[in-house]
Amino acid sequence: MASITAAWSPVHFHGAKIPGFLASRIERYYRERVKKTWGGGHIMRGRTPPADALHLSSNDYLSIARHPKIISAMADSVHQNGNGALMSGIFLHGACPQLQLEDRLASFMHAESGILCQSGWCANTGLIQTIANEQTPVYVDILAHNSLWEGIRSAGAKPITVFHNDPEHLERQVLRYGPGIVLVDSVYSTNGSICPLPEIAEICHAEGCVLVVDESHSLGTHGPHGEGLVVALGLLDRVHFRTASLAKAFAGRAGFITCSRQFNEYFKFESNPAIFSSTLLPHEVAGLDATLEVIRHEDWRREQLHANAEILRNNLEELGYNLNDSQSQIISLEAGTEQQTIVLRDALEARGIFGSVFCAPATPKNRSLMRFSINSALTGMDLARIIRACREIRKEVRLDDWPSSRRKRQRFDHLPIKAADEYNKPNPSRAVAIV
Ligand SMILES: Cc1ncc(COP(=O)(O)O)c(C=O)c1O
Repeated sequence: MASITAAWSPVHFHGAKIPGFLASRIERYYRERVKKTWGGGHIMRGRTPPADALHLSSNDYLSIARHPKIISAMADSVHQNGNGALMSGIFLHGACPQLQLEDRLASFMHAESGILCQSGWCANTGLIQTIANEQTPVYVDILAHNSLWEGIRSAGAKPITVFHNDPEHLERQVLRYGPGIVLVDSVYSTNGSICPLPEIAEICHAEGCVLVVDESHSLGTHGPHGEGLVVALGLLDRVHFRTASLAKAFAGRAGFITCSRQFNEYFKFESNPAIFSSTLLPHEVAGLDATLEVIRHEDWRREQLHANAEILRNNLEELGYNLNDSQSQIISLEAGTEQQTIVLRDALEARGIFGSVFCAPATPKNRSLMRFSINSALTGMDLARIIRACREIRKEVRLDDWPSSRRKRQRFDHLPIKAADEYNKPNPSRAVAIV
């Protein structure tokens, strides 16, 4: 693998002298991460994928990024409008396509109103900046997406951490610090676990908290026609705001917030990304409009996605991997250290399986992992290939020594022996026979 240690040199600033505080900061990255931890390589850059590689790194869960209806809607718009008028969202008014799409997306999600943002990042940071301030307690699940944490920082509010998916801990924290804002993801992006939304919503209702649910990994994939988990669980009257990145199942580049009509107007005059950053381009709006129709009408994609994810989860569990409570299309193999994750990456890539490496700051140090984003286009043969690879590599990657494997074993150590044995027996209903 090519070494990238040589890439850092002050000369790269075209001879402009940089002060020591910056030089030492950049130098630390090359010394500590690249050279020491990654051995001169790069944790994110392994092999070049061969032509028959299986790509599990895209969040295009419904496999629509090249859908002909969406592509032609975008191409028509580019030809008709070029890049349109380049300006901030605050200037939009009247019967413009972007505002009309806001209404359509909002009604799809059974919301009174909605706001299109440039990205999921802007949706989350912009929203929290407009609803929290220095006095607001903001309760945030420890695994909530970084953009929610960034929103807390930009609001100047104090984050109050809640253990992952632990409603009892949330309740204790709220009773201690008082009513505030609760931030959760519906499906967590690092491990694919699903938030216990009914319990969380009940606590928020009882204690007078505002509930924000980031539906980035459930919009389009969950609910009868992809409306998301809040709709699927009948929690509309308990959730104040839903946010989403439209760069997952919607396969575009935008973000969305559901809210009330009154809030929509307020947000556009209060949120920094709406005021100080330019808004979407016309072809992105046209593409998302076409995508909404595909998502709402092609239910088979969702069914295939969930079937694929279930097969993979069941088989990987059977092979001994600790999937950290994944219940969704996000499935992660947690190797632990970054060095161990590089070994895992190389073993998978040698077999043509390309996932996404997650390491600090996306995960805690020493809990780095390989994430598979499952999609609806994977065939039975593809799934069998992934499972075969994961079976073959277990010794090579020292699966038994991973901290996550140890945790899995410990979990069973607490069970009565019979129950643990029961679990370890092959279970035909859990492991689908494609291995
Ligand atoms: C849960 C969650 N929220 C927000 C975002 C940010 O979305 P975007 O990529 O559209 O900025 C992501 C993307 O990584 C995400 O996974």
